[in-house]
Amino acid sequence: MRRDPSVRPSLALVSSCLWLVLAADGTLGAQELKRASLTIRGGESGPQISRHIYGHFAEHLGRCIYDGLWVGPSSRIPNTRGVRNDVIEALRRIKIPNLRWPGGCFADQYHWQDGVGPSDKRPRRINIHWGGVVEDNSFGTHEFLDFCEAIGADAYVAANVGSGTPQEMSDWVEYMTFAGDSALAGERAENGRKAPWKVPFLGVGNENWGCGGRMRPEYYSDLYRRFSVYARGWSGNQLTRVAAGPGGTDLKWLDVLADRVRSGVEGISMHYYTTGNPRWEDKLPSIGFGADEWFKIVRDALKIDGLLVEAEGIMARHDPEGRIGLYVDEWGTWYTPFPGSNPAFLVQQNTIRDAVVAGATFNVFHAHAKRVKMANIAQLVNVLQALILTEGDKMLLTPTYHVFDMYQVHHDATALPLALQTDDYANGSERIPALSASASRDAKGRVHVSLVNMDPSAALAVEARIDGPKLGAVAGRILTADALDAHNTFDAPERVRPTAFTGATLRDATLEARLPPRSVVVLTLSASR
Ligand code: AHR
Repeated sequence: MRRDPSVRPSLALVSSCLWLVLAADGTLGAQELKRASLTIRGGESGPQISRHIYGHFAEHLGRCIYDGLWVGPSSRIPNTRGVRNDVIEALRRIKIPNLRWPGGCFADQYHWQDGVGPSDKRPRRINIHWGGVVEDNSFGTHEFLDFCEAIGADAYVAANVGSGTPQEMSDWVEYMTFAGDSALAGERAENGRKAPWKVPFLGVGNENWGCGGRMRPEYYSDLYRRFSVYARGWSGNQLTRVAAGPGGTDLKWLDVLADRVRSGVEGISMHYYTTGNPRWEDKLPSIGFGADEWFKIVRDALKIDGLLVEAEGIMARHDPEGRIGLYVDEWGTWYTPFPGSNPAFLVQQNTIRDAVVAGATFNVFHAHAKRVKMANIAQLVNVLQALILTEGDKMLLTPTYHVFDMYQVHHDATALPLALQTDDYANGSERIPALSASASRDAKGRVHVSLVNMDPSAALAVEARIDGPKLGAVAGRILTADALDAHNTFDAPERVRPTAFTGATLRDATLEARLPPRSVVVLTLSASR
């Protein structure tokens, strides 16, 4: 049993037991039942959960941009000025708040001038990081910013520091955002766009300790200071400037950067990928795995919590006012390349395990909402922990997409403090909590509770006491599946999808819910009808 010592238990927990379940084939079997209890302080207010925590990332990598988003205006696949209509519709449904582009590693080799002007005149360049494929630059600045407008997302443009110059970055910002009469604004108009776009977020480099130039933190910090002078907001476009922070657990980079860069910066990024093994080279498969590999992935995904605690400690020393946000602008699972795929294209399937990782990660982000102001899953389509997979004119929504859909209720809501006691989920001698949870209150006073049963084989009986507002009705949705690696395919695109959840009751400020193994549940509690 895992217990938060600061809180008095709201119910006496007994150790886990067995209960009978009816399997899909009609046979009766025993299933372990674990327990967890929560106290949600519904009348209190934590920080706002920025909707930007539900952000995205699309890189010129594999089939993310080409085939995934962009098919070109002359494609027989239905499109709006070259971007797939099915993808536009799916993304509008989940109200994606922002989109980061063009990389990733690609950002520090990208020269924006290559991607403007008549498409057939754009130069062809080698994509040096991702398989040496030839990039024809048909998807460039206009295509990206028009796409952002079409899906209602804020643009987050990552500028080139590794192989670029401050002048190039400054020109790009002017080209995109300046409303007056300048040579670059004129060039934009000649290329078909008179009015400037809004570009709220500007990344100054990406992973500059690695693919972005293999720099040392002291050197990057000096470069950041120089570049940021030339990153100006024009014509009312307020720029949020994001410095490239650490990857994985290298928090020394963050310490040096946050110490040396104290002005001209509004955010510092962090990247965290879940691989399930200590060595980066040792990845796990995305399907066809067993209970041990389920555990390793979920265990490692939860480690982002401790990393954020450490990062927040560093930030508190250098920025005690809390002015600079932490932007986890790449996160997600990273598995071995899907058999038969180009290994440089980072293709993987997406299962109910990825949905559990996504739900639990969002619960962690909610707990850190005071400092974590943005997060971007890697990546949007066809790459890593994708929300969408495409094949020709077919498209499917992954279990991860459905978690983004279910968690929409938390966008810009107020985080509610909660205390959790839960049985553990053990694998050999290792243990993690069986339940991950978070809660928020929206502008209409409704309370939203997200519960993730991370145990792949035991059900979980949850009892939650909600202090504060009087709430009488509960409704919600569940995402679960019949196998550890259940996933959607083009032949069976709806095998894993959310359904109405009928396993919750709310009486006298006590919520009871029984979660099946490997499930994500989001409940909305509202005043009595
Ligand atoms: O998302 C794939 C790659 O992971 C990105 O290009 C890079 O920033 C990170 O290492």
